[in-house]
Parts: sequence; structure tokens; C-alpha cells
Amino acid sequence: MEKKSRVLIIGTTGRLGHHLAEASLRFSHPTFALVRDSSFSHPLKSQNLQSLSNAGATLLRGSLQEEASLIEALKQVDVVICAISSTQVLDQKLLIRAIKQVGCIKRFIPSEFGLDPDKVQISGMDYNFYSRKAEIRRLVEEQGIPYTFVSCNFFMSYLLPSLVQPGLTSPPRDKVTIFGHGNTKGVFVQEKDIASFTIRTVDDPRTLNKVLYLRPPGNVYSMNELVGIWEAKIAKMLQKIYVSEEELLNRITETPYPGNRDMIFIYSAFIKGDQTYFDIGASGGVDGTKLYPDVNYTTISEYLDALL
Ligand SMILES: NC(=O)c1ccc[n+]([C@@H]2O[C@H](COP(=O)([O-])OP(=O)(O)OC[C@H]3O[C@@H](n4cnc5c(N)ncnc54)[C@H](OP(=O)(O)O)[C@@H]3O)[C@@H](O)[C@H]2O)c1
Repeated sequence: MEKKSRVLIIGTTGRLGHHLAEASLRFSHPTFALVRDSSFSHPLKSQNLQSLSNAGATLLRGSLQEEASLIEALKQVDVVICAISSTQVLDQKLLIRAIKQVGCIKRFIPSEFGLDPDKVQISGMDYNFYSRKAEIRRLVEEQGIPYTFVSCNFFMSYLLPSLVQPGLTSPPRDKVTIFGHGNTKGVFVQEKDIASFTIRTVDDPRTLNKVLYLRPPGNVYSMNELVGIWEAKIAKMLQKIYVSEEELLNRITETPYPGNRDMIFIYSAFIKGDQTYFDIGASGGVDGTKLYPDVNYTTISEYLDALL
């Protein structure tokens, strides 16, 4: 049997990183986590770290700001996956320098895990959210570091719990707001599943220097379709309030950041169609659900069942 790559995950105490570490262990990769000192003394994070350690992960102390700790960690692994938060994306520059220096990393997956930053059509509106991720892509490419960029679209825990209703914490039961005409499709994937697809790529030559896109069947719907699925589940028609593109843009402009952030992402996905307007194959990318049909993922309908 082919030897499984040793995987280093940075950000295992975070929302996605925790799932990445679990998936790496589940798929039998020797798994390492680079963890900041402060997390070991944090009540909840230290418990999570202990359970990862019990499951077989090797915990290494270090940080993206400490070059020596990065070099030391990189020398022990073949693959690096970074899952730091969007605001810290540029902190990966030192890591990229260290990866180049050690020269032994077979695959680097930088912290993206959202819409494709080279495909979004909302430049100037997103407070450099995507341009920072694109800057990291360019640096990785320039340095000739083998990579996979993971473009998973929305996490299921983001916007779907409210059925894409900013300000709500559960799906509406009386009236629902639909942005634009409601026919543009967006994509939601559960974090655990994003982690499974991501880990599947690390030893796969088909994903080398490619963008992996996730658009699983059953997880790609327009707002009208999402509302229809929910209405069928609660056996009730909701009152529809339509907010035009122009009105949404006015609301985005009038609301100071970050209060307008959800509306910006809704505009991008459900009005501009940034998650689905392009063909994956024609763009040179690879489709995760086609490459790994055996990954058993949660559909939107199943996710909504849990909210009934
Ligand atoms: N598509 C979507 O809907 C969606 C939603 C959310 C996030 N995302 C994307 O997913 C990625 C991960 O985001 P997240 O929300 O999972 O992140 P998160 O929960 O904020 O976790 C960040 C992790 O990075 C670690 N970290 C921070 N600074 C570090 C440093 N200097 N050195 C080492 N580790 C450091 C943190 O560790 P400590 O415990 O030490 O703080 C934590 O484990 C981002 O690219 C984000 O844009 C996408």
C-alpha cells in the first residue's frame, strides 16, 4: 500500500482546522498540529487538543510568527494545510518562505476555503477579503510551491441556519426575504465534509497545482429553491419579500462594515452568481464530488431537517 503523507495542520483549534485534523486522522495520515502556546492553557481549546492527541495527532508548539518553530515542524511532514482566519491570511507569508527554504513539502493548501478569489466579481466591495487570498495564491505560484487551492464555497454553518436571512439565527416560519430574482444558485458544504474532500486531495496527483471546487449535487440551490425546500418541510407557504439588487446595494453602502458583511456575501453568491457562474472543467479546476464520489456528504435538505 502507498505510504500516506504526513500532514501538518495549522489552526486546529479553529472552526475548520479542527475538522481537518479529524479528517486527516480518519484517513490514516500521520497528523501534526502546530499550536500556539496560549491554546494549551485555554480551557476549551486544551480539551480539544487533548482529544486530538489521544486520537494520535502529534502536537507541536509554535506559531506563524516564529520562523524556527515553522522550520522545525515542516521538516517532519510532507503536506501543510493552513486554516487560519480570513483576517490573518497574509500571516502565511513567513510560512511560504519557510516552505520554500526547507524544500521538502510536496503539497501546500493555504487558508482559502471559500469562494475562488480569482473568480469573485465584487472587487472593491469586500474590504480586501478576497484580494488577500489572491495575493497568497500568487506568492505560492511564484515560489513554485506545489499546491492545491480549495474553493469550497459557503460553510453550512454560515447563512444556511437562517435560510440566508441576515440577522436571524433560525429559518423563518412566516415571511422570508429573497434577494434579487432568487434564481441564482449558491453552494453550501458542511465543514466536516470540506475537511474530508480536502484531505483526499493531498496524495492525489490529479489535484496537484489545481483549484479543487466543491459543488456537491444536493448542495447547490437558488434562494427560491431553498425557500421551496424549507416550505415543504414545514408544510407552510411563507410570505415572500423581494429585495432588488439595487436595494441590496443601497443597504450594503448604508451599513458600516462589518455589519454589511453578510449582505456582501449574499450579493456575491446569490446575485452575481460568484459560486456557480463558471464551468469548473473549462476553468482548469477539478470537481471534488466527481473525483471522490465515495465521500458521503451532508446535503442541504438533510441539514435543514435538523433545524425543524
Ligand atoms: N466559506 C465560508 O463560509 C467560510 C466561513 C468561515 C471561514 N472560512 C474560511 O476558512 C478558513 C479558516 O477560518 P476559521 O473560521 O476556521 O478560522 P478560526 O476559527 O478563526 O481559527 C483560526 C485558527 O488559526 C490559529 N492561529 C491564529 N493565528 C495563528 C498563528 N499566528 N500561528 C498559528 N496558528 C494561528 C488559531 O489558533 P489559536 O487557538 O492560537 O487562536 C485557530 O486555530 C479561513 O480562510 C476563512 O476565510 C470560510
